[in-house]
Amino acid sequence: MSKIQVAIIGAGPSGLLLSQLLRLQGIESIVLERQTREYVEGRIRAGLLEWSTVDLLNEARVGARMMREGLAHDGLELAFDGRTHRIDLKKLTGHRMMVYGQTEVQKDLGDAHTASGAQIIWEAGNVAIHDITSHRPRVTYTRGAINHEIDCDFIAGCDGFHGISRQSIPKEYVTLHERTYPFGWIGIMANVPPVAGELIYVNHPRGFALCSMRSKSRSRYYLQCSLDDDIANWPDDRFWDELRGRLPNEHAGALITGPSIEKSIAPLRSFVAEPMRFGQLFLVGDAAHILPPTGAKGLNLAAADVRLLSEAILEYYRGGSETLLNDYSKQALARVWKATRFSWWFTALMHKFSDETFAHRIQLAELEYIAGSAAAAESFAENYVGLNFAQRIPRPQGLRLKSSI
Ligand code: FAD
Ligand code: PHB
Repeated sequence: MSKIQVAIIGAGPSGLLLSQLLRLQGIESIVLERQTREYVEGRIRAGLLEWSTVDLLNEARVGARMMREGLAHDGLELAFDGRTHRIDLKKLTGHRMMVYGQTEVQKDLGDAHTASGAQIIWEAGNVAIHDITSHRPRVTYTRGAINHEIDCDFIAGCDGFHGISRQSIPKEYVTLHERTYPFGWIGIMANVPPVAGELIYVNHPRGFALCSMRSKSRSRYYLQCSLDDDIANWPDDRFWDELRGRLPNEHAGALITGPSIEKSIAPLRSFVAEPMRFGQLFLVGDAAHILPPTGAKGLNLAAADVRLLSEAILEYYRGGSETLLNDYSKQALARVWKATRFSWWFTALMHKFSDETFAHRIQLAELEYIAGSAAAAESFAENYVGLNFAQRIPRPQGLRLKSSI
């Protein structure tokens, strides 16, 4: 049996960022991942980072390439009723967003681990957690035909929605809150220049569309599709035609198409497990919460959990205090629920739920309200850039927000 301070399950962004931050503070961890490194680094997912996440990656000393190659954005466009309205995030909140793919974050973290010789066990099978409520929990796994056992102080469950960490908590100690949505997103990646300089979120009578990007020569586009849709029903030409049809004219004419290099369908879900701690097991990132990607919050919430947990573990090893560890779940959930609300609300605002004209007119009225009211735009913007880090720009006393409603 080997001994370690922290056992981390899952080498996604949560697990690797946590182990990197702990290592920089001299705290030893081991990461157990059931997939290969190539598989984990090849998964195409998030693309948009809040600035608090950018700061954390820099603090973790894995941000150099992101600062060189990432695209900082000051705003985004909402498209509806055949027109667009720009939300100036920087002006409204003082914050920008960073376009930098999760695949790149994952590679930067992987490279930092390789350079430092940190312990990651790829293709760890049958990972299981034992004695969670004791002060000496254990983790077992197999590699090849050999069984391994690790004795540790803490276990970080960073193993995503389908992982074993959350499932190791007895059902009576965890409450699961869930909402599923009656549609999915089909996403494609293509090596073509993005249709516009900033992201465009589209509300259209045929369904939602999103124009995103990974670089100035690589685009990421999404379309709302039905839940039971099959990728085989979406040859590239159909995808491009449908996207063009959902874009306002000014953008439809500028759309450059090309062969897709990746195409996938993802269901949408809101899910929160609480509390995020049971005994010495701490749930982090998607293991504890999932959001529909509309608000671009999943990876950012995972990073925020990692910041809290790394600080709590550090406080424990520096001074023996468990105050932050005891507060972890409460602190994390306060942020999680606000982001869950925003992602749910933005999803409801932008997607087609039925053919009911009333629902669509209500969506348009709300979008017009955001476009016409500085207060509504500011509320949207501060949620989008990340509520907990949005430092409001102090307004001179007596200054009224300018609205055109
Ligand atoms: P994961 O990335 O799921 O990592 C968990 C790891 O644990 C995996 O490597 C898995 O193989 C491993 N694992 C699982 N089970 C076991 C086991 N039993 N033993 C060992 N290892 C195990 N978020 C944003 O912030 N912005 C966006 O723009 C955005 N866009 C998205 C677009 C799409 C289409 C999707 C699907 C997601 C998007 N997200 C976005 C969400 C974001 O990708 C996730 O929130 C993020 O990956 C969470 O990281 P994680 O490390 O917590 O979990
Ligand atoms: C992405 O680029 O993948 C992306 C961007 C913004 C979102 C969701 C996904 O809201």
